[in-house]
Amino acid sequence: MPLDIPGATHLHSGKVRDLYEVADGHLLMVASDRISAFDFILTPGIPDKGEILTRMSLWWFDQLSGLVPNHVISTTVPERVRGRALVVEKLDMFPVECVARGYLTGSGLLDYQATGQVCGVPLPGGLVDGSRLPEPIFTPATKADLGEHDENVSFEQVTQTIGLESATVLKQLTLDIYARAEEIARGRGIILADTKLEFGVRPDGTIVLGDEVLTPDSSRFWPADSWQPGRSQSSYDKQFVRNWLLSPEAGWDRADDNQPPSLPAHIVEKTRERYVQAYEQLTGETF
Ligand SMILES: Nc1ncnc2c1ncn2[C@@H]1O[C@H](COP(=O)(O)OP(=O)(O)O)[C@@H](O)[C@H]1O
Ligand SMILES: [Mg+2]
Repeated sequence: MPLDIPGATHLHSGKVRDLYEVADGHLLMVASDRISAFDFILTPGIPDKGEILTRMSLWWFDQLSGLVPNHVISTTVPERVRGRALVVEKLDMFPVECVARGYLTGSGLLDYQATGQVCGVPLPGGLVDGSRLPEPIFTPATKADLGEHDENVSFEQVTQTIGLESATVLKQLTLDIYARAEEIARGRGIILADTKLEFGVRPDGTIVLGDEVLTPDSSRFWPADSWQPGRSQSSYDKQFVRNWLLSPEAGWDRADDNQPPSLPAHIVEKTRERYVQAYEQLTGETF
C-alpha cells in the first residue's frame, strides 16, 4: 500500500490514509482514494476522494483556528501525492478517540439501548435512532488496532489513562469544536451528527488538534432535509455504496464476513459526486 515517495519514510498505513516521516521530523499524512464500508476496504477507490477530504479537513482547520491550534505545517508536498497530503508537525498523540455526539446513532445508540447511557453519560428515556440529544455529549473511545472496533469508554476511564487535567481539556475542546462545526454545517443544510477528533501535545505541552477533522470519514453527515428520527438516516457520502452492497445485484451476504464485490462504475461515479457535493455545499467553494 505505501507509495515510494522520495524523501519520505513510510511509518504507518490505516484503512484509508498513509503516514510517512519527512524532513525536520515532520510527518506527511496522505489521504488515499480508498473507501471503507461495513469495515471492509472496498475496490475500486473513489477518484479524487483523498483530495476532496484533504481540502475539507484544511478548510475546517481554518474555521477552527480561533478555538484550537492545529498540526498543519504545509500543503507543499511531493508531486506524487499533490493535493491529497499535508505536512504536519509530529505530536505525542493522546491514545483517545475524542468523540462528540449531538445525535444518537451507531455504537452510541447500542449502548443507550443496553444501559440508558452512552460512555457513562445518562440520557433521557424514549430516544430513538437519529434523535437529537438534549445537549451534545463527550463519548470517548479507546483506539483499536487495524481491523478491530474502537471501544467506548467513560470519562472516568480516560482520566485514568491520561490524567484528569488533560482529560478535562480534551473534553471541553471536543465539545467546543463540535458546537462550532455543528452550527456551521447546519447553516449549510448538513447535520453533523457526531465527530471523532484526535489531539496531541507539543514538546512544550501545548495541546494541538491533529489527524483529519470533520470529514465524512471521521464524522456522520446527514442531509438536514431528510432527517427523521426513528430510522437509520441516509449518510451523506456512503449511502449509495451501502445500499448497493446490500442489494441483490451485489449478491453479497453481509453476515458472511467475506470481502464484498467490486463496486460497479455507476456507484463509484455517484459516490464521487456525493463527496464533491458535500465539499461544495459545506465550503461554498468549487472543487
Ligand atoms: N500530528 C500527528 N502526529 C503524530 N501522529 C499523528 C498526528 N496526526 C495523526 N496522527 C496519527 O496518525 C495515524 C493516522 O492513521 P489512520 O490512517 O487514521 O489509521 P488508524 O487510525 O486506523 O491507525 C493515527 O494513529 C493518528 O493518531
Ligand atoms: Mg484514525
